[in-house]
Amino acid sequence: AQGAAEPGPLAGKTLLLTAGPTREALDPVRYLSNHSSGKMGYALAEQAARLGADVTLVSGPVTLATPAGVTRIDVQSAQQMLEAVMARVEAHEIFIGCAAVADYRPVAAATDKIKKSQETLTIEMVRNPDILATVAGHSKRPFTVGFAAETRDVEHYALDKLARKKLDMIAANDVSKPGQGFNADSNALTLYWPGGSKDLGHSDKATQAEALLLTIAEKLTK
Ligand code: CTP
Ligand code: CA
Repeated sequence: AQGAAEPGPLAGKTLLLTAGPTREALDPVRYLSNHSSGKMGYALAEQAARLGADVTLVSGPVTLATPAGVTRIDVQSAQQMLEAVMARVEAHEIFIGCAAVADYRPVAAATDKIKKSQETLTIEMVRNPDILATVAGHSKRPFTVGFAAETRDVEHYALDKLARKKLDMIAANDVSKPGQGFNADSNALTLYWPGGSKDLGHSDKATQAEALLLTIAEKLTK
């Protein structure tokens, strides 16, 4: 952060992160998206900058202000987010995938506005690239951290994603409970890494973000 020269636990570290939802175009005036507010990702960006990191935030459409000292790149679709991330991945030591990336997009966006001629409408969708797995599979990969948003069997699915995407760490989020996760101001993350875990308890997203970042800093110095 500008002027804030106090050396923090992430001083001199470069962090790239994704935040917010993506929008997948249906036609020139419509899109498919989700309820992600971007609050967790923006809290991470803000806290990381405060802890001394050089932060680049690749953001889907959100209504939040850019945290002080953070470089923000705005994107809309998952494909744009992937391009923005991969163009910068080699310049960063840490990657955190916090965005709620749409898993599918319409096969093609209609060139003209879709008219309501039919009684039913079927939209064919195709899977989006997995940004987090693409980063983790890169030959010069940063320390790679993912999120897992689950409504049941949280630990099971989080450990599965950690192993399957070959991550260094995953932050699991039970989004079935009110007041945590999507669009909430607080969260209750559990961190998993190969061979260990840490329960962060329930707190506001700034506190959760700081605890996650300090755990990453510990792993980096080992
Ligand atoms: N993610 C990503 N690109 C995608 C989908 C997900 O980078 N196309 C990232 C998210 O940013 C998050 C992690 O992968 O860090 C897990 O997202 P989540 O939706 O929980 O898992 P998925 O792998 O998409 O699996 P599913 O939705 O089936 O549970
Ligand atoms: Ca998903």
